Amino acid sequence: MTVSQFIRNLPKAELHVHIEGTFEPELMLAIARRNGISLPFSTVDETRAAYRFSNLQDFLDIYYQGVSALQTEKDFRDLTCAYFDRVAVQNVRHAEIFFDPQAHTARGIPFATVCRGIVRGLKYAQQTHGITSRLIMCFLRHLDEMDAFATLEQAMPFQRAIYGVGLDSGEAGNPPGKFARVFAAARAAGFRCVAHAGEEGPSDYVEEAVDLLGVQRIDHGNRALEDPALTARLAELGMPLTVCPLSNHMLGVVGALDQHPLLAMLEAGLSVTLNSDDPAYFGGYVNDNYQAMQDHLAVDDATLARIAQNSFHASFLEPQRRAELLAELDAYLRAGASA
Ligand code: ADE
Ligand code: ZN
Repeated sequence: MTVSQFIRNLPKAELHVHIEGTFEPELMLAIARRNGISLPFSTVDETRAAYRFSNLQDFLDIYYQGVSALQTEKDFRDLTCAYFDRVAVQNVRHAEIFFDPQAHTARGIPFATVCRGIVRGLKYAQQTHGITSRLIMCFLRHLDEMDAFATLEQAMPFQRAIYGVGLDSGEAGNPPGKFARVFAAARAAGFRCVAHAGEEGPSDYVEEAVDLLGVQRIDHGNRALEDPALTARLAELGMPLTVCPLSNHMLGVVGALDQHPLLAMLEAGLSVTLNSDDPAYFGGYVNDNYQAMQDHLAVDDATLARIAQNSFHASFLEPQRRAELLAELDAYLRAGASA
């Protein structure tokens, strides 16, 4: 996909990206080789050929298989650095990264190995590219709440590194309410809360995420639109949605990109942001998602700029850095307008 110069240089934040979903086949094969791990694929082409999904579960099966190559702190560092090298040239100025500790601890990889490796990558991003970040730990919703409690316990020594908690994995049949107590405990411990909701699951799940989990953002949220009263309430609350068009397309959440509900979301007054979700699997990083919406829905540059502005407002940035980045965006738009 050719990305316009306007989108390429537009300062933006990415708020919905799973670090394990940035695992490009080249790096996956190299890391598997150095760790002596055998994967079901032996070439980049073979790996990419397997990336055909008809729904979220199809994708998750492949995604959890891919992460098995990750063993050491350095592996997690290299994975994180590779993501930031890619988005630095997309003018991502701040990123809030998800990770799935249970996908690793269940394989015997210590929580500390995962967390320390990712944090080293976040430091690299700041030092090398001037990109700030927040780390968000997701609970796997197909597992039970006791497992999430054990994970929260393991995160406590890393509270300075982990800013928030989220909820991901297979949505259908795993409503947010299943995790109400562990989210309450996380909130009481000072973690910010977000949750995937309304990706495959019904609009009720979005409502539960707000009412039972106390989330400050909804990840995806597409199906909230099926309930006009809920949609109006989300707009009223200023509840941000982290929308991921290429992911929605690849996982069959939308039939075609020109049927994506982004315009309806904007018309409803929702605070929408654009994000990549699992870019190594879905055919594009954050700028490709911006470009896809321009190409398929004729979203103009001014609207994309508003979406980038939303990304800073919806972030967990501290006020001073947020103000700096909003000023950077403003300067970019004014320079363009007068060019
Ligand atoms: N884990 C990684 N990507 C995900 C997605 N799009 N939905 C739910 N869980 C995920
Ligand atoms: Zn996601």
